[in-house]
Amino acid sequence: IDIEKVSSYEELSKKAANILVELLREKPAANLGLATGSTPVGMYEQLIKAYQEGNVSFQDTHTYNLDEYIGLERSDPNSYHYFMKKTLFDHIDINPDHTHIPSGIAEDLEEECVSYERLIKANGGIDIQILGLGLNGHIGFNEPGTDFASRTHIVKLAESTRTANARFFSKKEDVPKQAITMGIQSIMEAKKIVLLAFGKKKMDPLQRLMKGVVHPDFPASILRLHPNITIIYGE
Ligand code: F6R
Repeated sequence: IDIEKVSSYEELSKKAANILVELLREKPAANLGLATGSTPVGMYEQLIKAYQEGNVSFQDTHTYNLDEYIGLERSDPNSYHYFMKKTLFDHIDINPDHTHIPSGIAEDLEEECVSYERLIKANGGIDIQILGLGLNGHIGFNEPGTDFASRTHIVKLAESTRTANARFFSKKEDVPKQAITMGIQSIMEAKKIVLLAFGKKKMDPLQRLMKGVVHPDFPASILRLHPNITIIYGE
């Protein structure tokens, strides 16, 4: 594991963005695996800045997001489609047809899972997957107990995750109970993983990721077995 400690959130965001900018310079048509949540927001800001300064273009880039809530329209401000558009896609030169996020409103959700996996494979797999870290060790929406062999699937959200995400909704009851997420095996197949963790609250889960037993009770523990992972963290 390549592990880098930073002394500020800004430094974390810059380091993470630089990794992606460097990849895109070498391989403009790279496939980026993206995450939502609070942690990568600063990295997205840095990517927008790099684009505005003419240091990077996303014209040939494809993106694949980890997850989406079930039942929220794309235009719903709490959907991850909306989040990605407002946080990144609207501000860079990416072709909207190249941005992929599992659909939480597909008529046939099982089929949506299968076709999302197929799409990623057909396009050559993910070059770099960005990950945040859930306090209970979840990655994507893969909650404790998820099979390490899982692929894109439908999940019931843990109460703790619904509570943690309630901050974005007007009330907790509005937080969807289900989501669609890339599986742990899908995540592990990325050629490189960059996990971002910032803040005191994340230091315990990070310890468990690095030193705890590799077990589905703490999904992120599997990342230790990935051959090319960089962890950027700070508090
Ligand atoms: C986001 C995702 C989640 C978050 C995790 C950490 O697409 O899949 O696993 O990465 O919940 O969230 P933050 O960054 O808000 O602490």
